[in-house]
Amino acid sequence: MTENKTQDSLSRLCVIILAAGQGKRMKSSESKVFFPFLGKSLIGHILDAVNSLSPHRIIAVVSPLDLERAQKTYGSLAEFVVQSEAKGTGDAVQKAWEIAPSEDCYMILCGDTPLIQDKTLLSLFEVFDKTHSDVALISARVEQAKMYGRIIRDSTGNFQEIVEFKDATPEEKLIQEVNAGMYLFKHKALESTLYCLNNKNAAKEIYLTDTLKDIRQQGGIISLYTLDNEEEILGINNRKDLSTALSIVYRRKNEHLMLEDGVTIIDPDNTFIDPRVEIGSDSIIKPFCYLEGPITIGTNVDIGPYVCMRAGEKDPIIIEAGCRVGPFSSLRGGTHLKENAHVGTYVEMKKSTLGKKSKAMHLSYLGDAEIGHEVNIGAGTITCNYDGEQKYKTTIEDRVFVGSDAILVAPLNIGHDSYIAAGSTITQDVPDHSLGLGRSRQINKTGWRKRSIQKTEEPSLSQKKEENHE
Ligand code: UD1
Ligand code: CA
Repeated sequence: MTENKTQDSLSRLCVIILAAGQGKRMKSSESKVFFPFLGKSLIGHILDAVNSLSPHRIIAVVSPLDLERAQKTYGSLAEFVVQSEAKGTGDAVQKAWEIAPSEDCYMILCGDTPLIQDKTLLSLFEVFDKTHSDVALISARVEQAKMYGRIIRDSTGNFQEIVEFKDATPEEKLIQEVNAGMYLFKHKALESTLYCLNNKNAAKEIYLTDTLKDIRQQGGIISLYTLDNEEEILGINNRKDLSTALSIVYRRKNEHLMLEDGVTIIDPDNTFIDPRVEIGSDSIIKPFCYLEGPITIGTNVDIGPYVCMRAGEKDPIIIEAGCRVGPFSSLRGGTHLKENAHVGTYVEMKKSTLGKKSKAMHLSYLGDAEIGHEVNIGAGTITCNYDGEQKYKTTIEDRVFVGSDAILVAPLNIGHDSYIAAGSTITQDVPDHSLGLGRSRQINKTGWRKRSIQKTEEPSLSQKKEENHE
């Protein structure tokens, strides 16, 4: 199939995303498809994958409780229809059908499978088109078939039906080919079976999967696109699935960084890097680092061990070439380290820039700070950026030396080449080339220690009396 023809066919596609289930197995007050997962909700991931196919229409079926939020968050990507009671996946599709009864073909997906990739959906579409099938669906061969629906084939390998876990016999439960919950239906195939469904099964739900048996019995062509593992189709039904999905994502990311991007990761099992992070070659990530959100790291950067970076969509983190971060540093959104800057132990940064070759090596908080080149931030330095109501900026110009334990009360400007005395509380701007000193002067009392020791050694009057009585 040529690319243009595929594109033509895709533009006839109506996608239905099922997202109205109760998600009871998550044991949460949050609805399942809105669970956060790598910076989006579960349904947000599916919408992105589907959107890149440029279908003609995307309809998501949601619960009444989620309608407003869904429209607000994803209104530009999809139409939403409500399933007032979660009576099963078949019932959910009926709700979408009511507003889209005359589309050429329907792609039906579940809202709880965030790892699916657009290229896999495209492959499913190609199978569907090439084989002129009435239905094509994705299955996967898995080690543990868990609670997925089992794919039943006849002795010649032809598809027979899907049996749900709850309805499966012990023998059927042993089957290791499972239903991914991702289908393409021709209009007629869906129309002729969707309203024939019932809920006579163990879950008392209207199963979409029952349409397939009916379509086969009507002589329809059913094709399977079979994956050789569970990774992309993983359905998030409980918190264990959620953690499995995350570990798949982290593992894939680490592998990509090591094999494609030339990054050394000392202990991939204990390194958690979000797919949105980019890292340049010859950088090294030491154990127990957690990097979340849009983060760009240059070449030859040394990170860890025990570094946490959390960037926001609107507050990315940038680490330029040659920087060193860690151990035990916390970089939050809006941190920008310029070339060869160093951030060390127990240093927290937020919305702050540290200039080229500048260093903040120990025990500091740098928030809303603009720090120039070759600046030394002494141990224990704190920018006091917040007065309880507002945030204020601290500017530290090039080549400033900030001595240890300085308290810098913002708004503040420290001019270039100036020097802040250790232990100072600086509340006023410091001009260029100056010394800023903001602490009480030391007094030395000569001989004081000797005198105080003598005093404690001299017996008191009462002690003397006691001694005389003995
Ligand atoms: C479903 C399939 C199963 C498949 C698995 C793949 C059915 C009957 N079973 O099982 O064969 O192996 O997905 O992940 O289809 N939903 C609604 N309304 C409802 C019920 C569910 O919108 O009334 C939505 C859910 O929000 C979810 C999706 O449909 O996103 C699947 O529902 P879920 O209950 O998770 O089905 P599974 O038991 O996983
Ligand atoms: Ca599921």
